Amino acid sequence: MFLLLIAGSFASAEQSEAGDFISSQFSKSGICSNCHGNSFGEWDGSMHSNSDEDFFYQAMLQEYGAAAEAEGLPEGFCSRCHTPIGLVSGEIPPLDGSGLSEVAKEGVQCDFCHSVAESEGIGNAPYVLDPGDVKWGRRTDAQSPSHEVEAHEFYTQSEYCGMCHNIYHPANNLTLAATYTEWKESPYAAEGVQCQDCHMTPGIIEFEANPGKAASSGPERENVYTHYFVGGNAFVTDVLGEGRHEKRAIEYLQHAAALDVKAPEAAEPGEVVDIEVEIINSGAGHKIPSGVTEEREIWLELTATDADGKELYHSGALDEAGGIDPEATVYHTVFADSEGQPTLKAWEAESILYDNRISPKALVLENHSFVMPEGAANPISIKTVLHYRSAPQEHIDELFGGGTYTVPVIDMATYPETGASSQGIPEIGATGMLAIVFLAVAYRKFKG
Ligand code: HEC
Ligand code: HEC
Ligand code: HEC
Ligand code: HEC
Ligand code: HEC
Repeated sequence: MFLLLIAGSFASAEQSEAGDFISSQFSKSGICSNCHGNSFGEWDGSMHSNSDEDFFYQAMLQEYGAAAEAEGLPEGFCSRCHTPIGLVSGEIPPLDGSGLSEVAKEGVQCDFCHSVAESEGIGNAPYVLDPGDVKWGRRTDAQSPSHEVEAHEFYTQSEYCGMCHNIYHPANNLTLAATYTEWKESPYAAEGVQCQDCHMTPGIIEFEANPGKAASSGPERENVYTHYFVGGNAFVTDVLGEGRHEKRAIEYLQHAAALDVKAPEAAEPGEVVDIEVEIINSGAGHKIPSGVTEEREIWLELTATDADGKELYHSGALDEAGGIDPEATVYHTVFADSEGQPTLKAWEAESILYDNRISPKALVLENHSFVMPEGAANPISIKTVLHYRSAPQEHIDELFGGGTYTVPVIDMATYPETGASSQGIPEIGATGMLAIVFLAVAYRKFKG
């Protein structure tokens, strides 16, 4: 009966709300760093550590603030995920951050994440916090001189990340981001490969052990989870001077996709040359792009040249203002507002106008064609590059003024492969991919 009551009290626990805590109940990450220096060094500079400071987020937050006031939307909506300690301690609103303590400005930080005792489900951050002596983790045998440790299986599962990596509109419930659901519906979920396997180990596209110590005074472990939390953000990490995380983001992007091209090597003048390109999501455990996909852009650039190097066809180039060739297909999501017009303001979204993103382990086909001109010399050579950009240049110029930031264009994959981004995934084919997943799952059973 007693046990039942305890179980019941967790199940009925409600998500933490504004004013439930004061910010001094949470430790600054520097305190954890005394014993968990490695975890700290990995997390420091990540988008989690910058989730409040992120200037791109802040600019959108201020726009949301104005709209929220006008339309009666909840003021603290964005802060639940981006500045969680600020929200639960009632330091936010005001949204200008003037009331925030130092610990709240650390964003998604150590003591916040390790004080999550339970979650009410997936999306819109329904965490149940219990800050204080107990730090929740995964090990049943961990002992620390400075805090209690409680093991909770939830920390090893995608459901933990799913608290914040699914976003629903605060009023009409439209799905605004669904990285968790995309994963849940993928072959990775079926094979038991969790977010943590790719984002908290050195493996990038599979679990890879990281032997060492979880705390400087703790025992050697066969695997210690890393805290880089790297995705595709090589823009804000670059501007904020987080070079280590920027480099890792480029590496992640270069492990996510592969290209295959079918095209004739020669053609007669006047003949139509048909080119078929396969774009494969070979490494990401969710769609590409994922997350804030109204901003993210993936597109293909294709160039055909003749034997003399003369350009025969070019698609997907940027214009001088950084706009993508309007003929190119951009893989992303387009939200529509109440009038059916496209909008980048997620809070104005009432429906999804367009979503052509590439599912995990799936491919899309792109067809290109041109007419072989007179005087062109065979053979024809084709070069394709798959590009990723964190946001449209036009939107960043609108927010911060033209010339302030250039959003970097990252090459995810090229065909023919050039050294830098080759990864061998397309060659091994579907059976090989399954074998990798199988190995990852088999390995998971052994990880320390
Ligand atoms: C005085 C040293 C010390 C400090 C300070 C400290 N810890 Fe620990 N912590 C340890 C040791 C030792 C372990 C056990 C490691 C092991 O068994 O491998 C541990 C274990 C943990 C675990 C469990 C790991 C697991 O695998 O489940 C978590 C979570 C944790 N600490 C979080 C924190 C957080 C968050 C802070 C800052 C608020 C913090 N610790 C501060 C020493 C410390
Ligand atoms: C986004 C939430 C999040 C943040 C931020 C975070 N952690 Fe963790 N941490 C986790 C999760 C989840 C795990 C367990 C991963 C698993 O077992 O699959 C973990 C594992 C750990 C472990 C155990 C590692 C191991 O394998 O033994 C320690 C120690 C730890 N974290 C300390 C910290 C410290 C210190 C910080 C701040 C520098 C921090 N964490 C920031 C979510 C977080
Ligand atoms: C409290 C909410 C919260 C939780 C829980 C959380 N995240 Fe995040 N995560 C965020 C926010 C907010 C950002 C974006 C910060 C920004 O870009 O300003 C983010 C960013 C990221 C990024 C970087 C994305 C990019 O574009 O580079 C990765 C990767 C990531 N999270 C993985 C994880 C994983 C894996 C887990 C589970 C172990 C997790 N997160 C748990 C809120 C959370
Ligand atoms: C099989 C490995 C794998 C798994 C599983 C996985 N990811 Fe990723 N993730 C990647 C790779 C590779 C990238 C870089 C490509 C990209 O940006 O989409 C990435 C990118 C991201 C991004 C940035 C998305 C973008 O397009 O800008 C976020 C956020 C993220 N992951 C969160 C998660 C969360 C949350 C989970 C679990 C629900 C998860 N990932 C599961 C490999 C994985
Ligand atoms: C349920 C959690 C959650 C809520 C609520 C939320 N976000 Fe986020 N936000 C995230 C996560 C997770 C990411 C990272 C995903 C990715 O990288 O694609 C993110 C990323 C962003 C980014 C991209 C930042 C960058 O550096 O590229 C912006 C801008 C942003 N959010 C603005 C907002 C605004 C404005 C609101 C409120 C209207 C909001 N978010 C509400 C979780 C949330």
